[in-house]
Amino acid sequence: MRNNIVAGNWKMNKTMSETEALVTELAAMLPNTKAEVMVAPAFVNLAGAVGSLSNSTIEVIAQNMYFAESGAYTGEISADMLLNIGVSTVIIGHSERRAYFGETDEILAKKVRAALQKNMRVMFCFGEELGDRKSGNHFKVVESQLQNALFSLDANAWPHLILAYEPVWAIGTGETASPEQAQEMHGFIRETLAQKYGSGIANAVSILYGGSVKPSNAAEIFSKPDVDGGLIGGASLVANDFIAIIKAI
Ligand code: 13P
Repeated sequence: MRNNIVAGNWKMNKTMSETEALVTELAAMLPNTKAEVMVAPAFVNLAGAVGSLSNSTIEVIAQNMYFAESGAYTGEISADMLLNIGVSTVIIGHSERRAYFGETDEILAKKVRAALQKNMRVMFCFGEELGDRKSGNHFKVVESQLQNALFSLDANAWPHLILAYEPVWAIGTGETASPEQAQEMHGFIRETLAQKYGSGIANAVSILYGGSVKPSNAAEIFSKPDVDGGLIGGASLVANDFIAIIKAI
């Protein structure tokens, strides 16, 4: 069966010393849990975090990578660079990458393929904007994001994929999808996957919810049958809050 996962996306926050302090605190406070716990520090702090967490079950993952193998791509980071420092899971498709850095479904499809070819695990993010939800297009938008970036993959890719549904209107806004809205969309995502790849694959994929998850709302969101955990932004930067969210799963 699919795993429960709680992942912290630290975005462009925390210097090296702050990262070191937070991972040390998290390692010390980590409760006994069956859930996989992951943190995604900034690129420059990944190697340090891997070292600091070498005796912990907390996995260090990357926030992004580029699809090319190597070469003249100033400012970019490759799969091999991540693997070489002990990072083997990567977030791809975050709405901030799409919105601020022009990452299209086509680019994201290439990144997903490149990561999978290197045997990395991919946490693929997607979700509708407020306008899509207001106009009732949210299911269509989510379906097309999945189709464009993932549905040309073979069935054997799916054990290496984690999905993170993050409605853009709920990210960093304090406004969370209600547990019912989350369940409705997660159920739709699983059904869409089942139609394309069969229910075996659909039922084995972890689908995380992201968008203003906090200690006060985590348990209710996580209690929904198709919500397998969370991708946490702001609240993952505070050790007590992130630990409380891990305890909620
Ligand atoms: P917040 O939890 O800050 O809303 O961010 C969610 C997110 O974007 C995680 O990737």
